[in-house]
Amino acid sequence: MLVAQAIGIFLLLGLAAALPADSGRSSSVTTVTIVQGHGYPIEEHSVQTSDGYILTMHRIPYSKNTGNDGPRPVVFLMHGLLCSSSDWVLAGPHAGLAYLLSEAGYDVWMGNARGNTYSKKHATKSPLLQPFWNFEWHDIGIYDLPAMIDYVIYWTGAETVSYVGHSQGTTSFFVLNSMVPRFKSRIRSAHLLAPVAWMDHMESPLAKVGAPLLGQPNAFVEVFGSAEFFASTELMNLFGALVCKDEAISQFMCTNVLFLLGGWDSPYQNVTLIPEIMATTPAGCSVNQLFHYLQEYNSGYFRQFDYGKTRNKKEYSSKTPPEYNVEGIEVPTYLYYSDNDYFASLVDVDKLRYTMNPSALKSAYRLPEVKWNHIDFLWGLNIKEILYDRVINDIKNA
Ligand SMILES: *[C@@H]1O[C@H](CO)[C@@H](O)[C@H](O)[C@H]1NC(C)=O
Repeated sequence: MLVAQAIGIFLLLGLAAALPADSGRSSSVTTVTIVQGHGYPIEEHSVQTSDGYILTMHRIPYSKNTGNDGPRPVVFLMHGLLCSSSDWVLAGPHAGLAYLLSEAGYDVWMGNARGNTYSKKHATKSPLLQPFWNFEWHDIGIYDLPAMIDYVIYWTGAETVSYVGHSQGTTSFFVLNSMVPRFKSRIRSAHLLAPVAWMDHMESPLAKVGAPLLGQPNAFVEVFGSAEFFASTELMNLFGALVCKDEAISQFMCTNVLFLLGGWDSPYQNVTLIPEIMATTPAGCSVNQLFHYLQEYNSGYFRQFDYGKTRNKKEYSSKTPPEYNVEGIEVPTYLYYSDNDYFASLVDVDKLRYTMNPSALKSAYRLPEVKWNHIDFLWGLNIKEILYDRVINDIKNA
């Protein structure tokens, strides 16, 4: 445990040394350039949340193969932690969910949460200063998703959208529906890949190491406020060398915090995609997003941020944070999960399944591919046949 604590402290120092975003990473590869490169139409839309964040959404309105063929049913895709709209397009037309949905006749909108590469703007706050970073995934659920989904419905004139989320994009879905009930009539169905609500059985080594220190109630938030998460390269190299097997490819991937969190040892990794992934990911987040997940790992609850007893009383009028109302969710929901998921473990997904109202939970599909990991839900080999054909079929039949 001493080693774990030492690494935890290292990690903290790495966070405290937060530097301005994207340092050293080329920004020439974006969702727009990727989609244009494949010849599909792409639009950018900005929307301001009620607390001032300016978010960019990307849209593939129709397929390059059909042209503009009139109004289409709308799908809204929401990425996970440290990710962005690029997730859904970087694998190209044969494997990227956004293109596959476009070919299936949908108007495809992709969200970007506050703080990522495409949504690092605010009406009054500068992302170079700390107050901008005072948020976590609870805020994505109560501010970002309402602003984006309302805009999509306004812009398209659709009555409802189908929702697809990955990882934190599923957590924020649960937050949204638990906190803002009016969305039950705006979301036609939800399709949740690698769903994350309860987290106490998470296997991610990076998270396990961080949790004892950083998952405490009150952890550093009162002292420092929040900050942009910046994983220093030296730190990730060190940590990667400690936990990753010494194959050249996993060593390379283990310099990227996304793989350190989500897993690097999958046989479904398409090696050809790694440079594209490295060019767009990690896409940025606030440290409080990580701290909140680590709190869940420690506490065993799926509940709001724990600020410690004193501030909890001020925020919530109770010593402990309120739990999210997963039982009350009424949107028809489909879960897709797997055995080798470091973030959404089988035990935790079971807790979620058996907590949800059976009339809302339409299906819970456990992939037969036992080695499929958290990140494979975005970029795994043969993902169309293994996963996306089913998801698209479920969206159609919902
Ligand atoms: C791996 O990704 C590349 C780049 O998108 C793609 O051309 C190739 O078909 C993929 N390989 C497999 C087996 O899916």
